[in-house]
Amino acid sequence: MSVNRDQASEPESERGGLIASLVRPYRVKMGTLAAVSFVGALLEAFFLVLISAVALALIAGDDLIGPVAGYTVELSTALAAGGVALVAQLALKILGVRVSAHLTADVTAAQRRELSHAYLKASWAAQHDAPAGRLQSLLTTLVQYAANAITTLTNATVALLSLIAFLGTGLFVDAAATGAVLIALAVVGAILIPLRRRIKARSRTLQRANLDFANAVSELGALGMEMQTFGVQDRFVERIDELTETTTQTQRRVQSLTGILSPVYMSLAYAAVLAGVAVLALLQFGRLEAVGAVMLLMLRSLSYGQQLASAAGSLASQAPAIERLRQAVDQYVGAPAADGAAVPTHVAPLVADNVTFSYGSDHAALSNVTFSIAPGEVIGVIGPSGAGKSTLAQLLLGLREPDQGSLEVSGVRLQDVERHWWSDRVAFVAQDANLITGTVAENIRFFRDDINDEALRDSAVRANVLRDIEALPHTFDAHLGERGSRLSGGQRQRISIARALAGDPELLILDEPTSALDGRSEGLIRDTLGALRGKVTVVIIAHRMSTLDICDRIMVIEDGRLTALGTPSELSRSSDFYRNAMATAGISTDVAGV
Ligand SMILES: Nc1ncnc2c1ncn2[C@@H]1O[C@H](COP(=O)(O)OP(=O)(O)O)[C@@H](O)[C@H]1O
Ligand SMILES: [Mg+2]
Repeated sequence: MSVNRDQASEPESERGGLIASLVRPYRVKMGTLAAVSFVGALLEAFFLVLISAVALALIAGDDLIGPVAGYTVELSTALAAGGVALVAQLALKILGVRVSAHLTADVTAAQRRELSHAYLKASWAAQHDAPAGRLQSLLTTLVQYAANAITTLTNATVALLSLIAFLGTGLFVDAAATGAVLIALAVVGAILIPLRRRIKARSRTLQRANLDFANAVSELGALGMEMQTFGVQDRFVERIDELTETTTQTQRRVQSLTGILSPVYMSLAYAAVLAGVAVLALLQFGRLEAVGAVMLLMLRSLSYGQQLASAAGSLASQAPAIERLRQAVDQYVGAPAADGAAVPTHVAPLVADNVTFSYGSDHAALSNVTFSIAPGEVIGVIGPSGAGKSTLAQLLLGLREPDQGSLEVSGVRLQDVERHWWSDRVAFVAQDANLITGTVAENIRFFRDDINDEALRDSAVRANVLRDIEALPHTFDAHLGERGSRLSGGQRQRISIARALAGDPELLILDEPTSALDGRSEGLIRDTLGALRGKVTVVIIAHRMSTLDICDRIMVIEDGRLTALGTPSELSRSSDFYRNAMATAGISTDVAGV
């Protein structure tokens, strides 16, 4: 993705904006938290002023407290007021913690929702082009970072408002002393800005490393069998070790930098206090009762200031995760699945006019492909591997759009067709049968609730998979394990054919649907597809030449170009590829398809 953007250092304000955008929808909760923290801190400040005055009164053997800021009260009244302040402050703190927990949970849920919705609504191309494991790590690790950032933000809010309450109280008690402390705090905060910048830059690197790590791990999970068979586990271990090294090193750097912030802040702040006291001594400051209260307030302010400094450090380290999340959401939102408003009369004729498509490289996967498929026609597609057949299937399904030329359905551009209308009528069998973790019925029905049990059974019969299903302990309710792992490759393929047939499609596109099947199963499925002839428009990318028996016409694709399109007997005259492929398959072109 955009490496440049990652490396660019953004102004602090933008970071603040980023995190603020996360909590913006929760203004009421944020406001409650702010009010609760502020009042709680005022009560605490009040308590500290009271305690210092009580202590002075006790030393002096007085029954009267004060005057503090012009007020004088009885000792017993002061103690009672202190008790009430403590209880009220505790209640407010508990309330604050609860609001903060709610806020974090809300933001986490909202982030997950936003990202997963954006992903699910994105075009298939955008989904497909993201590395394996990307979505998973975005939704788990990065969302966790974002949640932590909210916790940090609420902590920072509490610290900031407490600081303000304390300084306010301090100004009330003694303006000059407090003003001096205020300036010192501002200077200390400014000194720490470069450190925070560094933390942020390191954290960006960390997020990148974490995503790489997640990709590698998800690959590892998918390639277990190959790894063991080829005996290359050691190399994978090395790779994981390298990535682990990088991530943990970066993690360590971020953590040490973030950890340093607090003590550095504290030392600087104490130095400021020391300087302040020295100044007071030089000025021969005499009003002991005021100075005592202000000292207590300021020392406590320092610890709130420290919380604020460490929260700023944590936010700097968490902000890149939020940036990543935003980038991912923007990327998916920016590439929505095509959806139009047009409703054609039928799914066919399907007309490709000079269609060119490339995956971003200079070499087009399909160039200037022109053809017309009539309703109810069965079209076979053959060609060497890498020729562009699967790409053509994706274009015909409307999952990718041509770069040049047009693809029309009954005279309507495919990308303008209303998606619901289209997907209700179109079915697809992929080269790799992808099953969900669930039962047979769930896999065939595939979330289309209008498909009843009868249709399920019927499609299983037609896909020649009923016998296999009936051999399972709970037949259609049998759980197939993780992504159908309890079935053989051929069984999975037939389940996915049943899935395609169950919805009674008007257009059926199959990408080498029988590649994992034995000759007999292949023959039975061929019969099923042959029976659709004239009723359903079928485009079948053929793995075996025998499949072509049922085709009205055959398309030959070689190196991204349509080199022949015609009936079997036409192709036996016009296409070398067809003739050679038939000869290799041991089928005589003199009789085939005639
Ligand atoms: N997702 C992709 N990104 C980049 N290139 C791709 C992608 N998928 C396929 N290609 C390339 O496009 C060409 C056609 O691929 P494909 O349509 O899968 O061929 P076929 O199905 O005929 O074997 C190949 O050169 C392949 O390398
Ligand atoms: Mg293919």
